[in-house]
Amino acid sequence: MFPSSTQAIPEQSAVPRHLAIIMDGNGRWATERFLPRSAGHARGVQAVRRIVEACGRRNVRYLTLFAFSSENWRRPREEVSLLMRLFIQTLEKEVDKLEEQGVRLRVVGDVSAFEPRLRQLIEMVETRTAHNTLLNLTVAANYGGRWDILQAMRHMLRAEPELATHLNDIDEARLAPHLSMAWAPEPDLFIRTGGEQRVSNFLIWQLAYTELYFTDSYWPDFDANALDRAFAWYRSRERRFGRTSEQLADGPAGR
Ligand code: FPP
Repeated sequence: MFPSSTQAIPEQSAVPRHLAIIMDGNGRWATERFLPRSAGHARGVQAVRRIVEACGRRNVRYLTLFAFSSENWRRPREEVSLLMRLFIQTLEKEVDKLEEQGVRLRVVGDVSAFEPRLRQLIEMVETRTAHNTLLNLTVAANYGGRWDILQAMRHMLRAEPELATHLNDIDEARLAPHLSMAWAPEPDLFIRTGGEQRVSNFLIWQLAYTELYFTDSYWPDFDANALDRAFAWYRSRERRFGRTSEQLADGPAGR
């Protein structure tokens, strides 16, 4: 397990080790061009492909994409089924390339709500890419940060029922291994496209010390240059993790 940002100072590098993205603005991209929203989602898939490749080339080790939130079920039924079809088609089409390119794909979220075909496909792609180590690509689907914390709590109590009567023994270190991305470091950088400035119930536990970057670009327009601009901004940030600037200037002794 990687150390928690509230318990230790995480390792830092010029390029984020873990990048988390909310891909927003597909619908508006399409509407502005008098196209159906489906066209925006289709272009969104192309942007996913571009950004996965760009992250691989830039040595990002973990890329987590918010594809479908637990609240997205509230969308019109046709749009929900379109998104499901798009996931199925994309997984079927991309599995060989992901395997070849050294990408390990995992899906986090409550996949029990998905149709059996999609669940089987997810399992197949996860198994076929499990040996890959270049880039850990995680798709958050039917995911919600609050759902994640609650499922972690349930798993923890199932594993250690005595904690229910020893409440003071419950701490971060006990809960964190049960979170759905326990195998990844916390995100260094979060990007949200589409102009909104909110976290929308994405990885709320893990974003505690993440740098938050918002851009007006719609997701279908987001490309390697836009990614580089976000990385340049990230490099300009002073990541203090609760310390003062003076401590940072003192170097490792200030840790
Ligand atoms: C947000 O745009 C986008 C989504 C809810 C779906 C994201 C899905 C993809 C990019 C395609 C599939 C991805 C994978 C990983 C296979 P929006 O519809 O909320 O846009 P709007 O805010 O302009 O309406």
